[in-house]
Amino acid sequence: MKVLVVGNGGREHALVWKIYQSDKVDKIYVAPGNDGMTDLAERVDISASDINTLADWAYEHKIDLTVVGPEKPLVKGIVNEFEKRGLRIFGPNKLAARVEGSKVFAKNILEKHDIPTAEFEVFTEPENALEFLKEADYPLVIKAEGLAFGKGVVIATNQAKAEDAITRIMEDKVFGDAGSRIVIENFLEGEEISVMVFTDGENFIPLEFAQDHKAVFDGDEGPNTGGMGSYSPLPFVNEELQNRIHENILKPALDAFNQEGLNYKGLLYINMILTDMGPEVLDFNARFGDPETQVILPRMSTDIIDVFEKTIDQDLDNMQIEWDQRAAVCVILTSAGYPLTFDTGKEIKGLDDLNRYDNLLVFHAGTTKIGDKFYTAGGRVLGLTVLGDTIQDAISQAYGYIEEINFEDMHYRTDIGIPTRDFID
Ligand code: GLY
Repeated sequence: MKVLVVGNGGREHALVWKIYQSDKVDKIYVAPGNDGMTDLAERVDISASDINTLADWAYEHKIDLTVVGPEKPLVKGIVNEFEKRGLRIFGPNKLAARVEGSKVFAKNILEKHDIPTAEFEVFTEPENALEFLKEADYPLVIKAEGLAFGKGVVIATNQAKAEDAITRIMEDKVFGDAGSRIVIENFLEGEEISVMVFTDGENFIPLEFAQDHKAVFDGDEGPNTGGMGSYSPLPFVNEELQNRIHENILKPALDAFNQEGLNYKGLLYINMILTDMGPEVLDFNARFGDPETQVILPRMSTDIIDVFEKTIDQDLDNMQIEWDQRAAVCVILTSAGYPLTFDTGKEIKGLDDLNRYDNLLVFHAGTTKIGDKFYTAGGRVLGLTVLGDTIQDAISQAYGYIEEINFEDMHYRTDIGIPTRDFID
């Protein structure tokens, strides 16, 4: 079987790595991929967002299965383009991907179907939004409606900060049309967790729980990034809480998607918060989480090709996913200055020596290879995923391995694997 993976980050490297384990797979292509993946997959020079060219290329090359990493091609309708050409592709169709592409669409479904989520208002005019702020309680959460590279959510602790966010999003249009409408919602307090489920439109299978660390500095300080690390399983999610999440969130959300006629098939990733009142939905994502995928897939023992196939064939009720009981921790190494400004082109030293560790996986995100050396080429450079008997064991081994690798201006958090609430006094 020939498989195409769409995307170029650490999440896609983890997908390629997992797909490579399958006996059913003869050849993997990745578009556009990165230089760290080339021992597993052949790169194809087409952007992940160029959905028509990707679909034509896949048709010409008789690709048996395509798996999509990032949200942008999904929201643009890559699944519809592939299906038009009779090609098999894993991911939600264009309408279903709106659960991530439009925060207004998602919040309206949540409200209509009584699924726990923060109270909210939608604004299309900045004047009305600014007026609303005068009577509001703080903190407030302000969200650009559309895709904003993970930067479209602002937690405003006072009116001045909220005004600034609204001006930047709606008037300065820092996210372009993605900020034409905004959602303002109540701030919910609690532990944020990531819950991913495979769903074929009728049945669903939850994956193991994970948590990511979004802020750039230790103790959740500094601006949010695409993710500085992740870990799984979550010691504070017991069976009772899992059942509550299943009954109060997952089942109602997928029932709601059905009632709305979305025909959602693929991976749904719910960003959830555990409040004193119970779990509530913060956001839906129509794709695998990054860097959660880098800890979930190494723990999944089942052949992922079977899961993709059964999802597409609406046969997930005949599927069970087996898990490695070890814990996984992923620490992301970034270029200092990320997520703001940073330099690239720094030689990465020590990579080859890491191959000798059986319980370590190095997933490339922003790297480039020149000759036989790797150099930094982005903000998030590498993710080191370590499997250990316990979270603590995986953490200590991960930080031990990191000492063997370096590049100029390398930055990473030293507290990956510690639940967020432990940072609160
Ligand atoms: N872990 C955050 C994201 O994938 O959006």
